[in-house]
Amino acid sequence: MKHKIALITGVTGQDGSYLAEFLLNKNYIVHGIRRINSNNNLNNLTNILNSKYKRRFNLHYGDITDSTNLHKILSRVKPHEIYNLAAQSHVHVSFQIPEYTHNVNALGCLKLLEAIKNLKINCKLYQASTSELFGNNNNKIQNEQTPFKPISPYSISKLYSYNLINYYMHQGMFACNGILFNHESPRRGNSFVTQKIINAALRIKNNSNETLNLGNLYAKRDWGYAKEYVKYMWKMLQLKNPENLVIASGKTYSVKEFVNKVFNKLDMPIKWHGKGINEVGINKKNNKILIKIDPYYFRKIELNNLLGDASKAKKLIKFKPKVSLDQLIDIMIEKKDIDI
Ligand code: NAP
Ligand code: GDD
Repeated sequence: MKHKIALITGVTGQDGSYLAEFLLNKNYIVHGIRRINSNNNLNNLTNILNSKYKRRFNLHYGDITDSTNLHKILSRVKPHEIYNLAAQSHVHVSFQIPEYTHNVNALGCLKLLEAIKNLKINCKLYQASTSELFGNNNNKIQNEQTPFKPISPYSISKLYSYNLINYYMHQGMFACNGILFNHESPRRGNSFVTQKIINAALRIKNNSNETLNLGNLYAKRDWGYAKEYVKYMWKMLQLKNPENLVIASGKTYSVKEFVNKVFNKLDMPIKWHGKGINEVGINKKNNKILIKIDPYYFRKIELNNLLGDASKAKKLIKFKPKVSLDQLIDIMIEKKDIDI
């Protein structure tokens, strides 16, 4: 049987690891690029490395900023599909390391595109684009027509790669942008707000004396389930022609609502007191302060409201999100993925 070959950059991350599992299940040969790291960074790949699929799974050391290495890997692997998920993906951190963020997210994408072009690799390319591109525009709901107003080094770097992809698409390459809204899972990095809240709440439930320090409680996000969303990255590459598509749940909640849901589920209902940096979240049952505001976590500029309209994806790739925010929180508290 002839296998399709996929290459995933960012395979060790949240999305890369779920996508690798999804493609292996679909009988692909999967190659992934991992960065050299003095500590083992293969935790998210444990399922694959302990499964029968290991035989069809190959890891290559590399870095998206290293074009010599990209050329070497591409000419060896000759993939049919490439998923460019590698990124400095943390918005808050991008204000501290803007140059590095651009080297990885913007120039990395350029180096990959040029390598594909120069080696004449006949493949389809998915680029991990983002709802951060929308910034604070006045639209209540964002779709492919909404103007972009990036407001962080992260989103500016991702706008560069978004535009590059369009440029190569117009030159005839099958390259497309998945404009994904926030998506989470038990594999979400610890410093992103959902995982941070859930891990702290679980520790507090287990008698830790800590307080959970957060930044802006009033920002709203459209949160979905990462394991569910990766399927639609693949579906985008099964289209006849490349299309940029929004993938979103179509529901939005504030960080504060997320906190309330998590602590309620763990039987520590929260009442709120005070305003601004003096606002605190108190356990209704014993009056202990559990949540405080720490200005360190405020962003130079905040993106206030994300709410996606995925109508185009619903039409073209039959996008149909099944997991609600409540289910997602249960999955993250249990730290156990569900079949989807
Ligand atoms: P993630 O967990 O932070 O994973 C990022 C991956 O990129 C990791 O495997 C990381 O490797 C790798 N990486 C970082 N710098 C690299 C470099 N210089 N060269 C090669 N690999 C590098 O992110 P994610 O949540 O899975 O997101 C995947 C992609 O989707 C990212 O591009 C992100 O910007 C984008 N995105 C995410 C969301 C979301 O809500 N999750 C929404 C929209 C778009 P290490 O393991 O070595 O750090
Ligand atoms: N990380 C973090 N830590 N965020 C906090 C905190 C905190 O202590 N307190 C409040 N927040 C707020 C942030 O200000 C932001 O408004 C919201 O929580 C979500 O923050 P993150 O979870 O860090 O995600 P993000 O929305 O900035 O970025 C994620 O989603 C983008 C898609 O919209 C990342 O995955 C990006 O890579 C992705 O492109």
